[in-house]
Amino acid sequence: MPYLSECEVTSHHELSPGHYRLVLHCPEIAQDAQAGQFCMLEVQQGYYPFLRRPMCFERIFKDSVSILYKIEGEGTRLLSALSPGQSINVQGPLGKPFPLEANHARHIMVAGGIGIAPFPALAEAIIAKLGVTPEIIIAARTDSMLLCEREFQQMGCKIHLATDDGSAGQKAFASEVLRALAPGPDTIAYCCGPMPMMKATHRVCEDLGVRCLASLEAEMACGDGVCLGCVVEAKVEIEAERMVRVCYDGPVFDSALINWDNY
Ligand SMILES: Cc1cc2nc3c(=O)[nH]c(=O)nc-3n(C[C@H](O)[C@H](O)[C@H](O)COP(=O)(O)OP(=O)(O)OC[C@H]3O[C@@H](n4cnc5c(N)ncnc54)[C@H](O)[C@@H]3O)c2cc1C
Ligand code: FES
Repeated sequence: MPYLSECEVTSHHELSPGHYRLVLHCPEIAQDAQAGQFCMLEVQQGYYPFLRRPMCFERIFKDSVSILYKIEGEGTRLLSALSPGQSINVQGPLGKPFPLEANHARHIMVAGGIGIAPFPALAEAIIAKLGVTPEIIIAARTDSMLLCEREFQQMGCKIHLATDDGSAGQKAFASEVLRALAPGPDTIAYCCGPMPMMKATHRVCEDLGVRCLASLEAEMACGDGVCLGCVVEAKVEIEAERMVRVCYDGPVFDSALINWDNY
């Protein structure tokens, strides 16, 4: 059951141009939150902007959560003006978390740009609950957009960096780096990022027989399964069950369920 809480901002920093980390004191939400779930933030009190903005949990602590976000438009620009000591209304935790499956020897997280956001919490959960240290592919357009390298280093994760312009790591797409790592049927991959990047990652996993979990993004209104504003098409025979809600049925889906032809 999601909570609706006024949460105090305890820390808020710009990490690189346009990219921020926001830490919120929210004991009830933090207690229930799991990696892969998200919350809906009322970026400013009142009716503007009318809709809350969905953000996943970067890390989950005892009585707080951190959120890693990129300025996209007006809502995230308003969010970036919040100062420590101010409060923000938060609804969460929402959605289905990443399942933690013990039957895989190798766990590889594949992040494109701000798609890195759910992976620090996931890496911590995999290490704590499964006793395995995951690998991570951190891919972005350019080096200033590569985030969280230090956090994954501290967790002992093997890190593979890639940029579109070759300014750091390999000059390659995330999916190409994944293929070169030769994952096999003992591997589970997790991906989050722009839809075309997740589509390419899904195709590599499909080719190599790798189970892949994708954390999807969609524009959202209610965030709670009611408005159907966030549906995506699944590969399901029964027409009535074909549209799945990213907020309620996801945001984490087996990538084999999604109809990637639409992206
Ligand atoms: C489950 C979920 C978790 C998310 N977690 C994070 C996160 O941890 N960090 C983060 O930076 N962002 C995250 N997002 C995306 C974030 O919600 C949007 O970037 C944000 O709502 C944009 O609001 P805005 O008012 O700044 O931009 P708007 O003015 O609303 O839009 C600016 C541009 O961004 C596009 N856009 C808006 N919302 C989304 C969306 N949900 N997905 C893709 N494109 C969008 C619009 O089409 C437009 O082109 C998440 C989205 C979902 C659905
Ligand atoms: S945002 Fe309303 S159903 Fe998903």
